[in-house]
Amino acid sequence: MEIIVVKDKFEGGKKAAEIFKQEHDSGAKVFGLATGGTPETTYEQIVASDLDFSDDVSVNLDEYVGLAPDDKQSYHYYMQHHLFDKKPFKKSYLPDGTNLDAKSETKRYSQVIATDPIDLQLLGIGENGHIGFNEPGSAFDSTTSKIHLTDSTIKANSRYFDNYEDVPKYAYSMGIGEIMRAKKILLEAFGKNKAKAVKAMVEGEVTTDVPASILQKHPNVTVIVDEDAASLL
Ligand code: GLP
Repeated sequence: MEIIVVKDKFEGGKKAAEIFKQEHDSGAKVFGLATGGTPETTYEQIVASDLDFSDDVSVNLDEYVGLAPDDKQSYHYYMQHHLFDKKPFKKSYLPDGTNLDAKSETKRYSQVIATDPIDLQLLGIGENGHIGFNEPGSAFDSTTSKIHLTDSTIKANSRYFDNYEDVPKYAYSMGIGEIMRAKKILLEAFGKNKAKAVKAMVEGEVTTDVPASILQKHPNVTVIVDEDAASLL
């Protein structure tokens, strides 16, 4: 793992956008994208850059089950607002939260990932070490599945909703096995609340209790952390 420590999330976003540019210039065509507060500065920098994704494909990590694309809390809406409106891709895929048939939706999405293998996967990390929505205990070889969110994740994500009760309890998420097949992985973490998870990911035992710890086994991972998130390393 290559660890890059930056001053703050703004410097982190700049560095991440540079890596997107490098990979794009070297021929990357399929970009795995993430949502949440963490990648916002990266998307701001990409939007301000001359990157052109009109010949490329994006594949997002996850979506809440039950939320429609025009729901402001959905990850479809987030992506549209933060990136796609300004930097459209030839084709953008996200799990379909309105398809309540989990079997058909997870199968469809796994096929999407198999058809368009990911060149560069952007990741955040949950306070409990989750990646995508793969909560502690998820198998390292998992494919796309419907995940029952843990209480800690629901609490952490409730800051984006009016009430705790409004946070969906399930999500569709790309599996850890699928994330691990990306050619390159770029994980970002900013803030003190991520310090414990970052330490466990980088220096801890590789265990399903900390899903992100499997990244120690991936041959091409760059981690961008601010000083707060790196404070326990
Ligand atoms: C969410 C997302 C993850 C994200 C993580 C951290 O649950 N499913 O993909 O990395 O939590 O979110 P944030 O960046 O808002 O801290």
